[in-house]
Amino acid sequence: MKAVRVLEYGGQLVFDEVPAPAIARDEILVKITSTAVNHVDLVKASGTARQVLPIDLPWIPGHEFSGVVDQIGSDVIGSDVAGYAPGDAVFGSTSGMGSYAEYLAVKAAAVAKKPSNLSFEEAASVPVAAQTAWQGLFTHGHLEKGQTILIHGGSGGVGAYAVQLASHAGATVIATASGDDEAYLKSIGASRVINYREAQFEKVLREKVDVVFDLVGGDTQKRSFLVLKEGGYLISATQPVSQEEAARRRVTGAMMRLVPSGDVLGKIARLLEEGTIRPDVATVYALQEVAQAWKDIAGNLPGPYGLSPRAPGAARTHSHGKIVLRVASHEHDIRTRAHELYLARGAQPGRELEDWLQAERELTAKPRRTN
Ligand SMILES: NC(=O)c1ccc[n+]([C@@H]2O[C@H](COP(=O)([O-])OP(=O)(O)OC[C@H]3O[C@@H](n4cnc5c(N)ncnc54)[C@H](OP(=O)(O)O)[C@@H]3O)[C@@H](O)[C@H]2O)c1
Repeated sequence: MKAVRVLEYGGQLVFDEVPAPAIARDEILVKITSTAVNHVDLVKASGTARQVLPIDLPWIPGHEFSGVVDQIGSDVIGSDVAGYAPGDAVFGSTSGMGSYAEYLAVKAAAVAKKPSNLSFEEAASVPVAAQTAWQGLFTHGHLEKGQTILIHGGSGGVGAYAVQLASHAGATVIATASGDDEAYLKSIGASRVINYREAQFEKVLREKVDVVFDLVGGDTQKRSFLVLKEGGYLISATQPVSQEEAARRRVTGAMMRLVPSGDVLGKIARLLEEGTIRPDVATVYALQEVAQAWKDIAGNLPGPYGLSPRAPGAARTHSHGKIVLRVASHEHDIRTRAHELYLARGAQPGRELEDWLQAERELTAKPRRTN
């Protein structure tokens, strides 16, 4: 299969031919349609954080994907594998990485059925950001209806889901972001937006908040203790939280790490399907253009783990939304299969290929199975 690989820390991304993965009993093999770019892909590849985020080289990056089930593992009795069949459209994330490739072996427990109203490109942009937001707010932050939450980095990939999910849960949402994202953030549920380039949130907030969700780190995290109610939660996705300071202020502080969960993703899929939350794709590149996609991200990294943090006021490649890599086009797959059938069945030249194409399109448009 084709895959993008990192051969050495800090090295070029190489577009390679590698063996397709074999699946374990509790895994499914997904033919990837799209994947998305995350900061952690670049950080791991750079080697700057190899003590805490080691990788085995050569290494295929990629934490999240959408695609079609190609094979299922043998563990079909009473396990998560039983919920899937070849042909099912799925999306998900993997802590094992490897989704910048044509095929991925993934635990069935970490995927969910793709929301039918989302394109494969939109679906690939969801799993990491939305699950991180969900687990940050509810699993770690214990956010409840009627509470107030401050979300740092509200217009980023994770932040935008955090704003939507917190608002849907009945919380009052305050977000820090660049001023030009104010209208966008208000449109997805923020009641107040603080422009971090112009104001210090701890100086302009009049009331303390129940939960801070930190997607920025550094000084922003340190100053967050000042706005938290006693008994509140400071949850960071970017760096460890000082336990001394948390104890002194009588709050809970924790750094979270996403644990991929098909259950959580299934709940997110339902919210996407009913239109309660929506995905945000900034740019779509072909997998072969991954180097350009990484350049876009590197210029957009916040916080201490950034490779090249952008100075306040510097030009942005895009204001919000995820960068998606298209691995395979659905129409391309249909054409390839139609052409194979046309050749295999000895069809006549002329219109017949078009007939096969039409039949394949109709077949792939229909659900392959019902539950
Ligand atoms: N722990 C985990 O499991 C986990 C999972 C996913 C992500 N993460 C981490 O979470 C962080 C956010 O990820 P992401 O994908 O949402 O990143 P992103 O899409 O790049 O968003 C970051 C946002 O932060 C904003 N920002 C930068 N400096 C800021 C400041 N001082 N105050 C307020 N906002 C600021 C940026 O706004 P402008 O562009 O307008 O400056 C941008 O919208 C990253 O560090 C990522 O590695 C952790």
